[in-house]
Amino acid sequence: MTTTTSSSTIQNPIKSLPGPHESIWYQTIWGVTKPVSYFNTMQKRYGDIFVTPQFAGLPPQVIISNPQAIQQIFTADASMFQSGLGNQMIQPIVGDLSLLLMDGDRHLQKRKLLMPPFHGERMKAYGTTIREITREATEKLTVGEKFIARPLMQEISLNVILRTIFGLKKGKRYQQIEHALIGMLDMFDNPVNASFLFFKPLQKNLGFLTPWGRFIQKRELLDKLLYQEISERRAQKEHTGEDILSLLLSARDENGEGMTDEELRDELMTMLFAGHETTANALTWALYWIHYLPEVKEKLLQELSSIDAENIDAMEIMGLPYLNAVCSETLRIYPIAFFTLVRILQAPMELMGYEFSPGTPLAPCIYLTHHNSDIYPEPKKFKPERFLERKFSPYEYLPFGGGSRRCLGSAFAIFEMKLALVTILSKYSLKLAQKQPVKAVRRGIVFTPSGGVCLTVDSYQ
Ligand code: HEM
Repeated sequence: MTTTTSSSTIQNPIKSLPGPHESIWYQTIWGVTKPVSYFNTMQKRYGDIFVTPQFAGLPPQVIISNPQAIQQIFTADASMFQSGLGNQMIQPIVGDLSLLLMDGDRHLQKRKLLMPPFHGERMKAYGTTIREITREATEKLTVGEKFIARPLMQEISLNVILRTIFGLKKGKRYQQIEHALIGMLDMFDNPVNASFLFFKPLQKNLGFLTPWGRFIQKRELLDKLLYQEISERRAQKEHTGEDILSLLLSARDENGEGMTDEELRDELMTMLFAGHETTANALTWALYWIHYLPEVKEKLLQELSSIDAENIDAMEIMGLPYLNAVCSETLRIYPIAFFTLVRILQAPMELMGYEFSPGTPLAPCIYLTHHNSDIYPEPKKFKPERFLERKFSPYEYLPFGGGSRRCLGSAFAIFEMKLALVTILSKYSLKLAQKQPVKAVRRGIVFTPSGGVCLTVDSYQ
């Protein structure tokens, strides 16, 4: 792979950087409809730093897939960048007080408050629930029946969030919130409906006739339910639950201040937004690769045959080497997020010989870094063994981004992926019910296998 660097620093590098020459319309259509082909082509032409033009409603961005440059970005002081500013588009969903929209000290303080529930011992408590939800969701599968993996994985990931993050108990409120959330999330399946996120002028409430009007109604209903839940939980004297909302209700910052109802609502929506589709698609991809490549399935089942899947401790599952390699390779070959959050420079920065000025949007590209053939020989091939043979640095392997914006739910997502896969594969023998290899297509913020992956239940294990 080529590396494009300049020996001398340039005054306005974003203009001087190499970048595509096709018309903006052509590139927008190409980039939106076939992002994998677009970015592969750009990397072949320009190497590991290039600039995209104003594109799909976004300003020009510097696309970076060079590990040294990514290291510089991830290890720079957090005050060098703003990312919240670049996420304003999702404000209607996550609200003004979301971590995703914050920058600077507020962002760092909020991360400190939100981080503890996602780590260490806490995770163990979620293991039983994840396995239970996976069993419940897959109970309906019968031998000989075809099913599409993605909606089933979405059901699992949504229920995991409702029970472990929102801390909801099965019952009327649970059903109402689940229903309201699905109603709102479904709107974003259709790019026409979702267009109001990209084009502010479409955010006019003309009632149920317009997508924005429908969205507002759905959001109001959901908010009402969420605030009811928060207020009831606050009224309980002790927040003893293991769920994340309970932990956040008792969290205090260094001034002893707790979170307001509005902050709690916005962070619940943030975790739902960031954690639902991402994990569901990671699971869908994993099921695809395991069943597309018989040797991968065989090796994995061999490893699983050595454990008692029903009774094994969740933490032991985390240590299974081949399962770990399969999950890692799944997130390498088609990382669910193509890019990290954009980093808008706040001070001059030199990267790869270019001097970038404040205001420049830097976009570390996870997909292109994961397809660098110097780091990953035969990058288009699914080979879990590469993760058994060597360790990759956090600047070479970055499915969860890095630095001060690294994914807050990374450990949780991996935990859920492994537990759900083991629960499914130790109960059912599945096979692919489609001959054609799937393609990676864009679905909202994530990259997903086209068609959602059709599988059949072959037999019970
Ligand atoms: C396979 C599943 C997931 C993938 C691939 C993924 C990927 C990412 C990526 C690439 C980022 C941006 C990091 C950066 O810019 O450096 C991110 C941020 C974030 N993720 Fe995840 N994520 C996943 C699951 C989750 C889950 C389950 C949660 C929570 C329940 C979550 C919560 C967040 C939050 C809150 C942020 C924003 C962090 C900040 O702005 O400081 N993610 N994620």
